[in-house]
Amino acid sequence: MNSGIFRTKSVEQCIKDTEEPGRGLHKTLSALDLTVFGIGVIIGTGIFVLTGKVARENAGPSTALAFVVAGVVCALAALCYAEFASTVPVAGSAYTFAYASLGEFPAWVIGWDLVLELALACAVVAVGWSGYLRSLMDSAGIPMPGLLSGASGGHFGFDVLAAALVLLLTGVLIAGVKLSSRVTGVIVAVKVAVVLLVIAVGTFFVRSANYRPFVPPARETGGGSGLGAPLIRLLSGYAPAAFGVMGVFTAAAVVFFAFIGFDIVATAAEETRNPQRDVPRGIIGSLAVCTVLYVAVSLVVTGMQKYTRLSVDAPLADAFKAVHHPFWAGVISFGAAVGLTSVCLILLLGQTRVFFAMSRDGLLPPAFSRVHPRFGTPYRTTVLLGLVVAVVAGFTTIDVLAELVNIGTLFAFVVVALGVLVLRRRRPDLPRAFRTPLVPLVPVLSVLASLWLMLNLTAETWLRFAVWMAVGLLVYAVYGRSHSRMRPLRAARQAKEPRGSA
Ligand code: ALA
Repeated sequence: MNSGIFRTKSVEQCIKDTEEPGRGLHKTLSALDLTVFGIGVIIGTGIFVLTGKVARENAGPSTALAFVVAGVVCALAALCYAEFASTVPVAGSAYTFAYASLGEFPAWVIGWDLVLELALACAVVAVGWSGYLRSLMDSAGIPMPGLLSGASGGHFGFDVLAAALVLLLTGVLIAGVKLSSRVTGVIVAVKVAVVLLVIAVGTFFVRSANYRPFVPPARETGGGSGLGAPLIRLLSGYAPAAFGVMGVFTAAAVVFFAFIGFDIVATAAEETRNPQRDVPRGIIGSLAVCTVLYVAVSLVVTGMQKYTRLSVDAPLADAFKAVHHPFWAGVISFGAAVGLTSVCLILLLGQTRVFFAMSRDGLLPPAFSRVHPRFGTPYRTTVLLGLVVAVVAGFTTIDVLAELVNIGTLFAFVVVALGVLVLRRRRPDLPRAFRTPLVPLVPVLSVLASLWLMLNLTAETWLRFAVWMAVGLLVYAVYGRSHSRMRPLRAARQAKEPRGSA
C-alpha cells in the first residue's frame, strides 16, 4: 500500500518539509488575523449577488432557511477541517490533510479539485466586482465600452476591470502575506459595516406581508429537465426544483457559494504563529459570524421587497432603491465593490498555497515551490496562477462557474471528513489541539450532508466536474506519479544526499 499511489506522507514529514531552507513560509498570522482572513473571503458574491437570484427562483423568503442548511453543512465540515488543520499545520489545506491520511493519489485528486475551486471562484468574484464597479461608474456618467465589459448574451467581450483586479492583487500577494492581511483588515471592516448597515437600516422597512407565504408552494419549473436539472431529480424522478421544501435545498446548493472560504483559513496554517490553537479558532469563528449575518441579511432583504421583485444583479442595493433610499443603495454598492476585492485576494492566496504544496511534494514542477528570497512568498506560482485567473476572469460569465465551484468544494469536504476518520484510526497517537466531537457521527454526517447538496446541483455541473478531474488524472499519470518525492527510489536517494543538492 505504502509504496504505490496510496503511499502516505507522514505528518512528521509534512511538518519537516516546511523547515527546509528556501521552502518555508514566514509565520506571522494570529487567530484574529485568521478570523479576519476568513470573513474577508467568506462574505462576497454569495450574499451580495446570489441571494436575489435564489429568492426569486428557488426559495422566496425561505432563502434564510437555505442559508441555515448550507451553514449546517459547512459547520459539519468545519469541525473536520479544524481537527485536520490543528494536526497537520502546513500549507495546502485539504490537499495536505489527504496526503497524510488517505494517500498520494487521493491527495492529488483533492489538490487538483482545489485548484478548480479556488481559481474559478476567484474569477467569478472578480467578474462580480467588475459588475458593481461598472454600475457605480454608470451612475457617475463614465460608462465602460461594451467590448471591455466581458461577454454577455452570446457576444464576445473581455472584462478588462476583472482582469486588472486579479493582476493588481497578484502584485500585492507577491509583496508578502503580512501586507496583504493588513489590506484585507481594512477591506473587511468596510464590508462588514455595509452588511450591518443593510441589517440595521433595512429592518425599518420590513413589511410582514412580504413574508407570506414564507415557503412559497412548490411549482413545476418546466425548463428543469435534461442536463440542466439537479442530478437528484434525474436519479429519483421527483418533481419540481422551484420553491416548496425541495426548493430550499436547491437554493442551499447554490447559496453554499456564500460560505466558501472558511476552509481557506486552513491553507494559511503554515504561516500561523500557533496553528494548533489558532487555526480551529479562526475557522469556526469566521463561519459562525458569517452564518448569523447571512440569515439576518436574507430575512431583511426578503422582508423589504416581495421576493418576486428582488433584483438579480444587486439585490441588497436595489431593495433600498425600492423603498426610495438611493443614497443607502449607493453606499451599499460601493461597500460591495470594496468587499469583493478581499474575497478575490484571499481566494488567489489559497490557490497559490495549494499549488505550492503540490510542487513541494514533487507532484508539480519544483520551480513552483521556490519562495522569494526577500518577500518569503511563492512568487512563481503566484505569477502563473494570477495570469491564468486574470484571463479566465476576463472571458467568463458568473452563473455556470459558481455551481462548478460549489461541486468542487463539496467534494473536498467529503474527502476531508473521510480523512479525519482514517487518520484517527491510523495515527491515534498524534497530538490534536482540536478534536472533532462525536466521531464517527460528525464526519459521517458531514459526508452525507455534502453529498446531498452535490446531488442538488445540475447534471451539467457533474459532467464538467468529471471532465476536469479526468484531465487531472492524466497529469498525475504523466508527471506527478513519477516525480513524487515520496517515490521509494527518489526518497531513498534524497535521504542519502544533503538537502538542497537534489
Ligand atoms: N464565499 C465567497 C463569496 O460569496 C466565495 O463570494
